[in-house]
Amino acid sequence: DSNCPPVCILDFEKYAYSTLPRNALDYYRSGADHQQTLLDNRAAFQRYRLRPRVLRDVRKRDLSASILGERVSMPIGVAPTAMQRMAHPDGECANARAAESMETIFTLSTIATSSIEEVARAAPKSIKWFQVYIYKDRSMTHDLVIRAKQAGFKALVLTVDAPHFGRRLADVRNKFILPPHLRMANFNVDSKAAKQAGVSAGGSGISEYVMSMFDPSVTWKDLKWLSSISSLPIIVKGILTAEDAEEALHYNVAAILVSNHGARQVDGVPATIDVLSEVVKTVKGRCEVYLDGGITNGTDVFKALALGAKMVFVGRPMIWGLAYGGEAGARKVLQILHDEFSSTMALMGTDSFALSCMLIMQILIRKVV
Ligand code: FNR
Repeated sequence: DSNCPPVCILDFEKYAYSTLPRNALDYYRSGADHQQTLLDNRAAFQRYRLRPRVLRDVRKRDLSASILGERVSMPIGVAPTAMQRMAHPDGECANARAAESMETIFTLSTIATSSIEEVARAAPKSIKWFQVYIYKDRSMTHDLVIRAKQAGFKALVLTVDAPHFGRRLADVRNKFILPPHLRMANFNVDSKAAKQAGVSAGGSGISEYVMSMFDPSVTWKDLKWLSSISSLPIIVKGILTAEDAEEALHYNVAAILVSNHGARQVDGVPATIDVLSEVVKTVKGRCEVYLDGGITNGTDVFKALALGAKMVFVGRPMIWGLAYGGEAGARKVLQILHDEFSSTMALMGTDSFALSCMLIMQILIRKVV
């Protein structure tokens, strides 16, 4: 309803659900299989209760954070999501500009519908990270990584939870493909890596794309390879256990992003907020730890920070923002999350997360069973 502008993330979601073409909407919203983890990513946040402290002068609140040495205005950034031009003609460029105007991080997917260079031109001042998938043909990944650095991207986000593609049933039923007017913009028009996304052999076209191009044999050695070909800091995205967090630290990663890929890979893995503490306790400050998955409001952000994340990222909320109004819609999603997080801080008696130690923060939160 255009007379009633959205006031929270769920309003954007409702709008997108009622306006996006079915194929695109299903691709964006789905989780894997029976979507148990998809529900849990959100439900889990509600199992944590906040313990507010009162009478603490919260007039001045500092939401900013230092992330891999760069200042962001708030600890809320944009997660990489594929093929954003299905949500709005300006797609990733609009999303990156929204992040730029909110002074936060934008992460571009390898399988984006806007290229590395287009996004760099659209949002020259934003802090841009490039998400990496490892192709069977390593030279393809190699070239992208070099281009990202040349275009001014500041870090590589290696997605480690996709050696195989999760089964998203709606995409199989819809025989989902990238619509013909769009393309995988990071690849040459004539390459298989660009063309394959527009065909279905009878099931989910995007799943067939991934299965034919991405390397299922990837191991920790490939992380070593990635750091050998680029001087950019590496964030590993998709860690869900203390064991893998410990393993990642052997490879000098700059950060760990606790993520279950928006519940799109294995159904039945825990909600990310439920494994955050395990990872934070293992890491013990040896690298930065971030979280994504299921964040829809400012209290979710506060809960993740209270449990030790330095920053959070949002995927679907940005798509709903794009669907509502391109760059302005995406900016509004970030602005709402910013404002909600700011008021949560005030109401919790917290004026900054910058210097808080873990012990103090954990006093602010309790899990209910
Ligand atoms: C994703 N995600 C993802 N991750 C990644 O590393 N590369 C990618 O290309 C994509 N593509 C993608 C498409 C869509 C439609 C979704 C919903 C997600 C996962 C993404 O980065 C992030 O982990 C989740 O989206 C976070 O969960 P929320 O915020 O969507 O609940």
